[in-house]
Amino acid sequence: MRLVVAGGTGVVGRHVVAQARAAGHDVVPLSRSTGQDVVSGDGLAAALAGADAVIDVTSVASTSTRTAVGFFRRATTHLLAAGQAALVPHHVALSIVGIDDETSGYYAGKVEQERLVAAGPLPWTLLRATQFHEFVPQLVQRTSVGPFVVVPAMRTATVAAAEVAGALVALAAGPPRGRATDLGGPEEAELADQVRRFLTATGERRRALRVPLPGPLRRRLRAGVLVPGPGADRGRQTFAEWLSQAPKLS
Ligand SMILES: NC(=O)c1ccc[n+]([C@@H]2O[C@H](COP(=O)([O-])OP(=O)(O)OC[C@H]3O[C@@H](n4cnc5c(N)ncnc54)[C@H](OP(=O)(O)O)[C@@H]3O)[C@@H](O)[C@H]2O)c1
Repeated sequence: MRLVVAGGTGVVGRHVVAQARAAGHDVVPLSRSTGQDVVSGDGLAAALAGADAVIDVTSVASTSTRTAVGFFRRATTHLLAAGQAALVPHHVALSIVGIDDETSGYYAGKVEQERLVAAGPLPWTLLRATQFHEFVPQLVQRTSVGPFVVVPAMRTATVAAAEVAGALVALAAGPPRGRATDLGGPEEAELADQVRRFLTATGERRRALRVPLPGPLRRRLRAGVLVPGPGADRGRQTFAEWLSQAPKLS
């Protein structure tokens, strides 16, 4: 199959590209660094020509509601329009467990993406996963303030990005399913504890500062809204196993 991977250079996108190629698919990675832009739409028509499925794993590193909603609205609208023009029969998107009803921050952007995909012109599959193990170093890089890493107080069940990628490739190779079964990691933890373990394991001197988020999201995060329910699929690799191979921050 010809699979287009939008965001194919990202944390999960790299795994999607590698695993799709290993499975024998003809893979077209798409990102700004390869000359396409999902926000402007530039280069999408050529990239999607002849595709059997598009896997959207693009992202924007922002907690601003305006930025996140704007990014996911434009990206999804352009990818769906280009997919419709190219007669792509399957649009696969990756979202996040437990984001229903979020109206602010990054998660509001994901809610908008889900809405557009479900209402859009292409047959679709939407996989919701929990935060990746790799989310921990992403957070360290994005929320460090001097010697501190600011970590939202929240329960998580992180999963290996490689396992999420495997699920996406399998879904893209099958028929459109609508909402797929949620995918979470094998165990539950407090995110700040995982950040501390990562900092220790990689010899970082920064300290994790656990901070309750403002607003109604605070209560939901503390209650574990981002942890998958009993019907979810579970990845196998634990955070400790992933950590034993995790690269140091550059
Ligand atoms: N990280 C997590 O823990 C997690 C958990 C569950 C679900 N997810 C979802 O998984 C998806 C991917 O997340 P990630 O953490 O792997 O993202 P990431 O590492 O930040 O990668 C983002 C990708 O999007 C591309 N991109 C950004 N802006 C673009 C643009 N204007 N046009 C084309 N490509 C663009 C980037 O490449 P260029 O910069 O070269 O353009 C990169 O390949 C997101 O939808 C996210 O919500 C993430």
